[in-house]
Amino acid sequence: MRDDAADLLAWYDRHARDLPWRVAPGSDARPDPYRVWLSEVMLQQTTVAAVKDYFHRFTTRWPTVAALAGAADAEVMAAWAGLDYYARARNLLACARVVARDYGGVFPDTLAGLRALPGIGPYTAAAVAAIAFGARETVVDGNVERVMARMFDIHTPLPAAKPEITAAAARLTPARRPGDYAQAVMDIGATICTPRKPACGICPWSAPCLARARGTAPDLPRKTPKAAQPIRHGIAYLARRTDGAWLLETRPPQGLLGGMLGWPGTDWAESVPAAQPPVDALWHDPGAEVRHTFTHFHLRLGLRLAQVGLDARPERGTFHPAATFRPADLPTVMRKAFDLARPAMETLPR
Ligand code: ADE
Repeated sequence: MRDDAADLLAWYDRHARDLPWRVAPGSDARPDPYRVWLSEVMLQQTTVAAVKDYFHRFTTRWPTVAALAGAADAEVMAAWAGLDYYARARNLLACARVVARDYGGVFPDTLAGLRALPGIGPYTAAAVAAIAFGARETVVDGNVERVMARMFDIHTPLPAAKPEITAAAARLTPARRPGDYAQAVMDIGATICTPRKPACGICPWSAPCLARARGTAPDLPRKTPKAAQPIRHGIAYLARRTDGAWLLETRPPQGLLGGMLGWPGTDWAESVPAAQPPVDALWHDPGAEVRHTFTHFHLRLGLRLAQVGLDARPERGTFHPAATFRPADLPTVMRKAFDLARPAMETLPR
């Protein structure tokens, strides 16, 4: 009888990607739940290539969940800068602290136990339970949705198709090696069953795949088009003191980019907001704006630049000395503002 899961595991044994949070396929050793959890939180909405360096930096600096739990908020937010979706970083730290304080630094080993932790949703709970603890849980991310929609030739558009896809994925999930199996589906999704030109000729599931047989694979999964996102406008103020220090503020913990370092500025609104400079200065408009897309809107961020004296007394923010200010600690939109402003800054009157 055909055994699709076994065929995929045999493929994984030879072709698994070698990733820093994994153990060798089929290995009796279980991967460290901390590393599995951290990698799964980082990998949401992001690619393996984007995550690798962050994962290495986090695990070098904080090798255990207890070490991460003991880190200062600002350090963790700065280390996360550039990965975006900053609520995930805040939840990551909240979760680490609960595991360290209430669970003696040991992650619960069941889906329900994991779900009870802050910031762990159905996806992360299933992934950690399967990969770190060998539980037969069904793991469905974007790659898995695409593979399943094709395997079963599901034409219902996403997101309405989610229950159907999850049920199909659950039927295929084996009791043996569910963690390797979950990662094997992710690997064929990332390397073979790709969005535009699936390489069906080398796919271990080419025989059972209904979409391949019917020629529909490149058109699946179908997706309901998203409504156009609104545009918001704002102004960011970049002030540099004559000693090289930059005026920055830590954003309030709630809300967008909460807890991250940023340039003081106006709210982001549908119409261009009135000026609200954080310090008295001769503000210069470089005439360029930052464009950045968040989950629910596009931002057009105007810039104002100023050189200020050592006697400047800002109403908002604090000066960060040039020696300790690292642009890499900024979230992407604030980093873009810095990259645009820096050359213009050199030409400002002092
Ligand atoms: N994407 C999300 N989780 C992953 C994993 N464990 N391996 C590879 N890609 C992934």
